[in-house]
Amino acid sequence: MKLRIAVLPGDGIGPEISAVGVDVMNAVCRKFGHEVSYDYAICGADAIDKVGDPFPEDTFQTCMAADAVLFSAVGDPKFDNNPTAKVRPEQGLLAMRKKLGLYANIRPVQTFKCLLHKSPLRRELVEDADFICIRELTGGMYFGEKYQDNDKAFDTNYYTRPEIERILKVGYEYAMKRGKHLTVVDKANVLASSRLWRQIAQEMAPRWPEVTTDYMYVDNAAMRMIQEPKFFDVMVTENTFGDILTDEGSCISGSMGLLPSASVGEHTPVFEPIHGSWPQAKGLDIANPLAQILSVAMLFEYFGLQAEGSLVRDAVDASLDANVRTPEIQIEGGAKFGTKAVGQWIVDFIKS
Ligand code: IPM
Ligand code: MG
Repeated sequence: MKLRIAVLPGDGIGPEISAVGVDVMNAVCRKFGHEVSYDYAICGADAIDKVGDPFPEDTFQTCMAADAVLFSAVGDPKFDNNPTAKVRPEQGLLAMRKKLGLYANIRPVQTFKCLLHKSPLRRELVEDADFICIRELTGGMYFGEKYQDNDKAFDTNYYTRPEIERILKVGYEYAMKRGKHLTVVDKANVLASSRLWRQIAQEMAPRWPEVTTDYMYVDNAAMRMIQEPKFFDVMVTENTFGDILTDEGSCISGSMGLLPSASVGEHTPVFEPIHGSWPQAKGLDIANPLAQILSVAMLFEYFGLQAEGSLVRDAVDASLDANVRTPEIQIEGGAKFGTKAVGQWIVDFIKS
């Protein structure tokens, strides 16, 4: 297969984990005889500094011309602490999602046997927990009408029927491929937008008679994820709720550095870790590259390259079993490996 990849390293630890992701991709492509090429493009704070726009037109065109985007992270503290900043790195990420029509964000929440102790939850609760959150990514409060002056501000949680139908369909398709259990998460006891979600879900449910659909308020879902994470198989929810619940989900896995995601929709799909740019760690070679590496696995799987994806996952598992780990997940007394060393170990494993 021929793959043309747009690489967007972004800010903070982004460039370091991006380099590892590309190395892993190269190793797998070489092994399986795929031809891969890369086009690098700027985004986030890096792009604001260089051209004043966090998602420049050139970057957009590079993404449009590619088969897939390998994205790393955006964000910089110099913007976080300035509420009056006119452009922010995160706007680049939102612009990318909107312009590429990436309405479905697939966030798997998995556990790793040897890392169960890293979860703040008891082992028996998280062991074998495995669900997918399907987060709507181009609607809701993130993109609805906004207003702010000195005395008042609002955001609009706007959703239309076609937007809700297409994301629920993704939810049902994943449920069919997995445990046939879909949980629609909303706040239909309070929000009109949620009542529309629930109404449409109830209309659609009979089309998937094999799938058990249940409806859960988001506050209850937040509790249930901690109380009984194994209850969930596929969860589908709106943009803001999905953002919040997936950070909570990372506590089930034990580290933000472990969770990849795929954003898919109308144009080029994007594969990225769910964590941010961790600017404090920039250049220190301590960031965990596994979420980025696992996003490479998701990329291969998206193109139906299951064996390639599995090899990446096996390599990640092997590195964890061999205790080749970055500091935040290393066992007590174990040697701490840097971003590059973990990447190199995984590349060598793939080659062998
Ligand atoms: C995420 C992030 C982004 C979001 C931020 C960086 C804008 O938290 O991908 O979950 O809120 O969507
Ligand atoms: Mg988030």
